Amino acid sequence: MPYPTTRLRRLRRTPALRDLVAETRLGVDDLIAPLFVREGIDGPQPIASLPGVVQHTVESLRKEARRLADLGIRGVVLFGVPARKDAEGSGAWDPDGIVQVALAELRADLGGQLALMADLCLDEYTDHGHCGLLDARGEVDNDATLERYARAALAQAAAGVDVVAPSGMMDGQVGAIRAALDGAGRTDVAILAYAAKYASALYGPFRDAVDVTIAGGGDRRGYQQDLRNARESLREVALDLEEGADLVMVKPALSYLDVIAAVRRRFDVPVAAYHVSGEYAMVMAAAERGWIDGPAVALEQLTAVKRAGADVILTYFAGPVAEALHG
Ligand code: PBG
Repeated sequence: MPYPTTRLRRLRRTPALRDLVAETRLGVDDLIAPLFVREGIDGPQPIASLPGVVQHTVESLRKEARRLADLGIRGVVLFGVPARKDAEGSGAWDPDGIVQVALAELRADLGGQLALMADLCLDEYTDHGHCGLLDARGEVDNDATLERYARAALAQAAAGVDVVAPSGMMDGQVGAIRAALDGAGRTDVAILAYAAKYASALYGPFRDAVDVTIAGGGDRRGYQQDLRNARESLREVALDLEEGADLVMVKPALSYLDVIAAVRRRFDVPVAAYHVSGEYAMVMAAAERGWIDGPAVALEQLTAVKRAGADVILTYFAGPVAEALHG
């Protein structure tokens, strides 16, 4: 009887052996927590399609950010829900806008201990729900929007942001923001570019979280990427890097592991991936029914995103995973 001379099972025998040879390690400091802050509410509001995630008041946001920092989380990314929306999305650059107010508070509490990031887009602030200004034909006007993104970047910078994260997928957005920041002497503010962002069906719960409905049942396929394209992502990333991006992101994560891997291979810059609201909601919903082991699946998914090549992961599981890895 011929015995196998190579036995891969030998190094799988005990937890200690498995840990020693693990190729991928998921740490609390790999995770960035997305946090929602809403203007004009008395207390935190639950989000039905994102169990365990809330719309914060500035006060509850401060507590949560402190708690996450104490658990070892190194970054948060803020999303604002304004009390009033308008056609231009002016809340995005209002110095008293909700994200600017929240940034200033977090900066005072935790500056240096926690990297403060902010989503930079207009969809949370526009009454039509698109990521930019609409032209006379009702289409998103790329270049008029860039000028508003520049204003939003300056407002976030003045409020104390460390990293701005443009997510609107306008052409030239990174360059416009870099030029505005540099022109104002804010060469210190970094840019995390949502470089390869797909028009995905997985953003539904997020739109509940920020109270966004796209007018007329519209969608974002006119500016976000077509999910059938992978090579196009490399062009998006290359352009964003030429325009001055410091980190680049692929979004969503699990359906785009091939894109994460391709970006990792081609570019020597920090790569982020966004495990988005729909990815979180699917795990939570199946776990709630007892069909899967939620925490185990969450760890499996986030580890897969790291294995594919992401350096950091934006995830609604950041808090729960940090708690689990501490316990
Ligand atoms: C746009 C933005 C979106 C998300 C992050 N930034 C929504 C969209 O593009 O429609 C989605 C995040 C998620 O689903 O968790 N400001």
